[in-house]
Amino acid sequence: MARLGTETAFEVLAKAKQLEAQGREIVHLEIGEPDFDTPKYICDAAVKAIRDGYTHYNPAPGYPEVRKIIADEVAKTRGIKVDPEQVVVVPGGKPVMFYTIFALINAGDEVIYPNPGFPIYESLIKFVNAKPVPINLREENDFRLDVDELEKLVTPKTKLLIINSPQNPTGGVLTHRDLERIAKIVVDNNLWVLSDEIYSRILYEAEFESVTQFDGLPERTIILDGFSKTYAMTGWRIGYGIMNKTLSSHVSRLATNCNSCTASFIQMAAAEAIRGPQDDAERMVAEFKKRRDVIVDGLNKIDGITCRKPLGAFYVFPNIKQTGRSSKELEHLFLDKYGVAALAGTSFGAFGEGYLRFSYANSVENIEKALSWIEKGMKEILA
Ligand SMILES: Cc1ncc(COP(=O)(O)O)c(C=O)c1O
Repeated sequence: MARLGTETAFEVLAKAKQLEAQGREIVHLEIGEPDFDTPKYICDAAVKAIRDGYTHYNPAPGYPEVRKIIADEVAKTRGIKVDPEQVVVVPGGKPVMFYTIFALINAGDEVIYPNPGFPIYESLIKFVNAKPVPINLREENDFRLDVDELEKLVTPKTKLLIINSPQNPTGGVLTHRDLERIAKIVVDNNLWVLSDEIYSRILYEAEFESVTQFDGLPERTIILDGFSKTYAMTGWRIGYGIMNKTLSSHVSRLATNCNSCTASFIQMAAAEAIRGPQDDAERMVAEFKKRRDVIVDGLNKIDGITCRKPLGAFYVFPNIKQTGRSSKELEHLFLDKYGVAALAGTSFGAFGEGYLRFSYANSVENIEKALSWIEKGMKEILA
């Protein structure tokens, strides 16, 4: 258990809630979830499914008709062939990481993963006694991994590469050329890829591209996607992995051993999420884009902070190195003294030092309030 990590967003949220209970006003920019309600048509589908009796067990990898709807959606959005048997429906995006890393990785294998990156990757790599090999996502490269550096990190022991585009915590997006070069390294070195595409629909200036578009990649890639972010369904707990049929049968067996199946009526609601009108999902993205512009422009006007404009997800990763303080120090200071809940860049790995992560899945009004409090804080910190 000493090797298992955690996700500090939940800890900062708990601390912020405690401060609120003491009467303090806090703006929440720490937690990575849409502030919108789940679209009504999805809620209606869940209620109907409960009334229609979708309240029993279902097959471990999901209902065949739901797997088919997901397979068709992934085939359409990635331009690849997907058989429903390649789809495993699980309670959220996270279990795809857990199950596939358990299924694939042996002690001593090396796994390359983004740093700063979603903290659960490193946690699980360590938990299965594999060697974590972080690849530094640098600000000067717009937080895209450097493919030359990736090539140097691959050894005969490398088993898996984890990529995440659009990325948490930086909002970075890999380019077509990046993906093409990554695909070549993966094929040449016979690697697996876990492609975390949970933010595939939350993209502003660019069209989404998956590494699976390249020859040889579909059979060695696990696509992780789900409903949490796209449809504001974080609390419903449903996501899916797309993988080759051999791996999907192993992952299904892991699911049988652990969660049995994903809640029946929730699968029905998720199927409706895909089938139904996409206006709500699109409206959310348009709103996130407005908020991104407000927070990026606002942060860049504050002395001591610089912030790149991310192309996707709903996070900014501003540089706070001019303060001379550590990320963790600033995280504490902003929450305790100035009422802004944010996360230290180091919550996402050692290479996040010198940065903070703000989630802008909050109203423009709250973002503007946070910006004024951050400005006040920075004046005092730099004084
Ligand atoms: C990069 C990334 N992958 C996966 C997840 C997990 O999503 P879910 O809530 O569906 O498990 C998150 C959630 O924050 C995330 O940021």
